[in-house]
Amino acid sequence: MNEALRIRRAAPGDADALSRLARSVAAEPGGWLLTLGTWRSSSEERRAIRLFRRHPDAAIIVAETAEGIVGRLSLTRDHHPSSQHVADLGLMVAQPYRRRGVGRSLLGAAVEWARANGVSKLELHVFPHNEAAIKLYESFGFEREGYRKRHYHRGQEYVDAILMAYFVTA
Ligand SMILES: CC(C)(COP(=O)(O)OP(=O)(O)OC[C@H]1O[C@@H](n2cnc3c(N)ncnc32)[C@H](O)[C@@H]1OP(=O)(O)O)[C@@H](O)C(=O)NCCC(=O)NCCS
Repeated sequence: MNEALRIRRAAPGDADALSRLARSVAAEPGGWLLTLGTWRSSSEERRAIRLFRRHPDAAIIVAETAEGIVGRLSLTRDHHPSSQHVADLGLMVAQPYRRRGVGRSLLGAAVEWARANGVSKLELHVFPHNEAAIKLYESFGFEREGYRKRHYHRGQEYVDAILMAYFVTA
């Protein structure tokens, strides 16, 4: 990426931009996300950011250029005492900024967060038709752990998902 890319924790002032980004990605015809065109409002997003900033078991990380926020990655640690070494992640990059290394940079930041917080396994779900995301995750080092049939309900239908995981080394 030519322009400087800043990767940092989300702040409450990012709520509008993050809400806009998610709505625009959710509205893409590709159907990449669990939601179809809807997302938290800006004020709900602001509340979520504040909560995530206070919470040691979750994080929202953003990628920013001089033009504004262009990507977002969220992490949530598993609650169960037996799987607290696992965190789930979600990722999106604004369409005009794709294929410039933003997604890869955000994944790198997720690994740093995992190391700093005692998380040794990152996991995610991705729709089988999302070739771009699968290629990114596999090239980063994620492994396929399973195929979950009719795992999510989206719109009027059930959809399958691939479960992928990345093992964080010291
Ligand atoms: C998936 C997504 C996050 C990738 O982000 P990105 O910033 O474009 O990814 P990067 O530029 O870091 O790509 C890194 C590598 O991933 C692979 N990759 C990414 N997009 C690809 C595509 N469209 N086709 C083929 N390979 C792709 C390539 O190996 C790429 O390296 P290269 O550009 O040097 O060949 C982005 O396409 C996106 O936000 N999509 C919509 C939302 C979404 O699908 N989120 C994930 C839900 S699980």
